[in-house]
Amino acid sequence: MLIEQDSKVDPSKWRIALHVAELKASIIREILKISSQPGVISFAGGLPNQSLFPMDDLKWAMETAVEKYDSTCVQYALSRGIIPLRELLAERATNDDGVESSVDNILMVSGAQQGIEIVARAFIDPGDYILTEYPTYVGALQAFNYYQAQYCCAEMDHDGILIEKAREQIEKHKPKLIYTVSNFQNPTGISMGVERRHQLVELAQQYNIPIIDDNPYGDIRFRGEQVPSLKSIGGDIVVALQTFSKILAPGLRLGWMNGPASIMHHFEKVKQCSDLHTSTIAQYMIYEYLMAGKMEPQIKRISEFYKNKCDLMLQSLEKEFPAGATWTKPDGGLFLWVELPENMSAKELLNKAIERKVAYVYGEPFFPDGGGDNTLRLNFCTPSDEEIREGIKRLGQLIHEEM
Ligand SMILES: Cc1ncc(COP(=O)(O)O)c(C=O)c1O
Repeated sequence: MLIEQDSKVDPSKWRIALHVAELKASIIREILKISSQPGVISFAGGLPNQSLFPMDDLKWAMETAVEKYDSTCVQYALSRGIIPLRELLAERATNDDGVESSVDNILMVSGAQQGIEIVARAFIDPGDYILTEYPTYVGALQAFNYYQAQYCCAEMDHDGILIEKAREQIEKHKPKLIYTVSNFQNPTGISMGVERRHQLVELAQQYNIPIIDDNPYGDIRFRGEQVPSLKSIGGDIVVALQTFSKILAPGLRLGWMNGPASIMHHFEKVKQCSDLHTSTIAQYMIYEYLMAGKMEPQIKRISEFYKNKCDLMLQSLEKEFPAGATWTKPDGGLFLWVELPENMSAKELLNKAIERKVAYVYGEPFFPDGGGDNTLRLNFCTPSDEEIREGIKRLGQLIHEEM
């Protein structure tokens, strides 16, 4: 029986921890709410294209996991993740990526986002500095903000983070971590060049600062030559975060960390506090899926699909956007990045864009110091071809009018 509520009960006055109460909700979630209104052409989402989720194969993987492993596949499991899957991921890292790995290097996580959170919890005391690209992934900033991190940033060119800027920041602020999205970065689509990778590794080694290479998009390359991963160049100075979210399906919430064996127990402790372990059945499903050789054709299918979308968006931008606006030309991933003429605010323009039923994410949230007023991110992989043509046309007209 419910005890009669006392008039003193007021959950809004409960003493939420200050650093949580002060944490801002993601601006992007707010934009997504608006952009998911009916009739709006949205380039705002961070989602992969749902039509590419291999539902029949996932059904097969689920049935196979249940048949083969019976009740074990829904029992509690090791915090680091089930051994056969970790062995397989270590073997693939060794053979396919040149990253000498064993089960002791691998920790299964509930998506790369949890990997970021684990790293933040393991390293960051309030006020500690993290070196990031400028701009950087907003979800990482959110996780780092929770631990009251401060940021020192280095700008990028078309080849990724500028090393001399990074060095200056390291000398000035002595960051505890270097956080990078080295492949087809969210938000810019920029991928780090080979030489730059070597330089960044050398810099990190010189100061003994770990590089956290958040890499959800590396497999979705649809143009250009494969480049070695930061971890294959840097070995133990790099902790790699990987995920099945963009190559398979994000709702599985399955990713993994590959880091130095001597540090993994710290990450394991943090993971234990957070959720004990990642979903057992999801791990067995993916294990079966990988063992059946289904991943490679899936990656190929996604890459081809996204290439066509990206090419169409690039053509449309070329046709519809005025001189004075520039954009990146990604070789993979989900996003491209637009710079409007310097005096034009992408944030202010968004309201007018939404009146014309087209949405994007303005760049500001991706800059730790709230810069980048004239920038915006476009997701090319979820809209239909017709939406890309029409949406870019509407945006182009709007920018013309504002110039
Ligand atoms: C750079 C980056 N890191 C991490 C994530 C989160 O990935 P996951 O679904 O594996 O948690 C995303 C998702 O958009 C991302 O873009």
